Amino acid sequence: MAVFVLLTLLLMQAVSRAERDASDAEPFSVPIPTNITIQSYNMNPILYWEYQTMPQTPVFTIQVKNYRHAKWIDTCVNISHHYCNIFNHIDDPSSSVWARVKARVGQKESAYACSKEFILCQHGKVGPPKLAIRKKENQIIIDIFHPLIIVNGEEQGVMYDDENTCYTFMYKAIVTVNGSEILDRIHLQTEDDCNETQCTLSIPATSVNSQYCVSAEGISDTWGVTTERSKEVCITVFSNSITGNFLPFFLLKIKGYN
Ligand SMILES: *[C@@H]1O[C@H](CO)[C@@H](O)[C@H](O)[C@H]1NC(C)=O
Ligand SMILES: *[C@@H]1O[C@H](CO)[C@@H](O)[C@H](O)[C@H]1NC(C)=O
Ligand SMILES: *[C@@H]1O[C@H](CO)[C@@H](O)[C@H](O)[C@H]1NC(C)=O
Ligand SMILES: *[C@@H]1O[C@H](CO)[C@@H](O)[C@H](O)[C@H]1NC(C)=O
Repeated sequence: MAVFVLLTLLLMQAVSRAERDASDAEPFSVPIPTNITIQSYNMNPILYWEYQTMPQTPVFTIQVKNYRHAKWIDTCVNISHHYCNIFNHIDDPSSSVWARVKARVGQKESAYACSKEFILCQHGKVGPPKLAIRKKENQIIIDIFHPLIIVNGEEQGVMYDDENTCYTFMYKAIVTVNGSEILDRIHLQTEDDCNETQCTLSIPATSVNSQYCVSAEGISDTWGVTTERSKEVCITVFSNSITGNFLPFFLLKIKGYN
C-alpha cells in the first residue's frame, strides 16, 4: 500500500514537472506584468505595473476583487498604458481590495499577476490641509480646511467622516513668531473647533511688529495616517490693542499632543 502511494506521488510529480517544462518551452509565451502596486493620493487609488519591452504592443486587462463580494470584476480592459484607476470598484474604503493584471500580445495571454492586499484608508497618502490666516481684533484666526477627495482631477467631497471618507483628522499646528517656534503641538479637537469643512484655531496676537507663521498637518489615529504638512501661511501684526508683553500666549482650548 505504502509503496503504491509513493509511486503515485512520484508519478504525479513527474507529470506536473513535465507540464511546467512544456509551458516554459512554449515559443511565444507571454510574460506576466511585474511590480504590481496600488497607490492612492487623496483617495484616488491607481494600480500601476511594469512590463518588459515587446516587439508587439501588449494590452492589459485589470480585475479588482473586494473583500465583501469576493469576486474578480473587470476594471480596465485591453488598455495599452500601464495604470488603471480602481476608485469605482472600491465600495468600502476601510476594507481590503486586491487587483490583478494580465497581458495580451496578439492572441496570447499571460497569467494574472496579483497586487498585495490594499486598504484605501490605511495605505493611501493624503495631501496637506489648506490654511487661511487673518487677524480679528487681537486674535489671529487660522482656518484649517480638511483635505479634499480628488478623483481624476474632480472633487468628490471632503475628508470628514470616518465612515464614508476614512478620516476625521485632528490637526497639529506649528506656530512660529519671528521665525522661532513657540508652540508646536496644538491639538485641535473636533467638536467645538471643527465642522465638516474646517477647523478654526485662534491665537492671541500679543507681540507687536511680529510675524506669525502657521503650518499644519492632519492626524488620524484610527488609521495611523498623517497628512502631508501644509505650506506655511504668515501674517504680520503691526499694532495691537493688547498691552503688556507677558499675557499668556494661548488662552484658547489647547491640549498638549503626544
Ligand atoms: C516598483 O514600482 C515602484 C513604484 O512605482 C518603484 O519605486 C520601484 O522601484 C519598482 N520596483 C522595481 C523592482 O522595479
Ligand atoms: C479585448 O481584446 C480581446 C482580444 O482582441 C477581445 O476578444 C475582447 O472582446 C476585447 N474586450 C473588450 C472589452 O474590448
Ligand atoms: C464651519 O465653521 C466656519 C468657522 O467657524 C464657518 O465659517 C463655516 O460657515 C462653517 N461651515 C459649515 C458648513 O457649517
Ligand atoms: C519680532 O521682530 C520685530 C522686529 O524685528 C520686533 O519688534 C518684535 O519684538 C519681535 N517679536 C518677538 C516676539 O520677538
